[in-house]
Amino acid sequence: MSDAASTKQNVTKRKIAVLVSGRGSNLKALAAACAQPDFPAEIALVFSNRPNAQALSIAADYGIPTQTLDHKEFEDRTEFDAAVSEIIDQSGAQLVCLAGYMRLFSEEFVNRWRDRMINIHPALLPAFKGLHVHERAIEAGVKITGATVHFVRLGTDEGPIIIQGAVPVLPDDTPETLEARILTVEHKIYPEAVRMIAQGHTRIVNERVEIVDEAPSVADCFIVPHVAIRD
Ligand code: GAR
Repeated sequence: MSDAASTKQNVTKRKIAVLVSGRGSNLKALAAACAQPDFPAEIALVFSNRPNAQALSIAADYGIPTQTLDHKEFEDRTEFDAAVSEIIDQSGAQLVCLAGYMRLFSEEFVNRWRDRMINIHPALLPAFKGLHVHERAIEAGVKITGATVHFVRLGTDEGPIIIQGAVPVLPDDTPETLEARILTVEHKIYPEAVRMIAQGHTRIVNERVEIVDEAPSVADCFIVPHVAIRD
């Protein structure tokens, strides 16, 4: 084995838990990234609050351990969340990644995983928090939208922003076409956020994320509609 190859295989992998409720396309993007020998994280657990979530079969395809708990079988949110925390603890995960986990948290759960839990949302936060995001973006007439990965705080889709990606909103977009365009960005930025955190490149200062020890690069300006700009 060459030196380069052995270095790659010796990378320290941080354990992450991915919480899902549905389709699981972001789980698939994370699983594919984690399957790379030089990626600094591995998925120790996929947890679903819906026992029939499609995401669970994606986890099975990748040989990732899964656990489910049906929230309807618990007295209240705090009790359910305490059980979820215990399952995550048992997996050894140090970072919790929400990937289409459509359930509100108790304050205890959010505090328990503060600065160790991240979420992906299909909009350029703080715009368009909550549900029906693509319909609302089209309705509002925005020309650019995108996706955000952020640390989780108590409010819905709130917390320090780690990374964002932008896409154009085209004149004939439907919620479905816009969703598909944004998803391709989600699948790029979520593994990237996990990589940065796992390698220690993120620091939260005054509720803003600073990226440390990584050279910033400036992409070309992204303007929609693309028209000639005069000097
Ligand atoms: C993704 O678009 C994700 O950004 C969104 O749910 C979808 C899950 O899809 N999350 C939120 O809206 C959180 N507020 P997936 O199951 O295919 O990853």
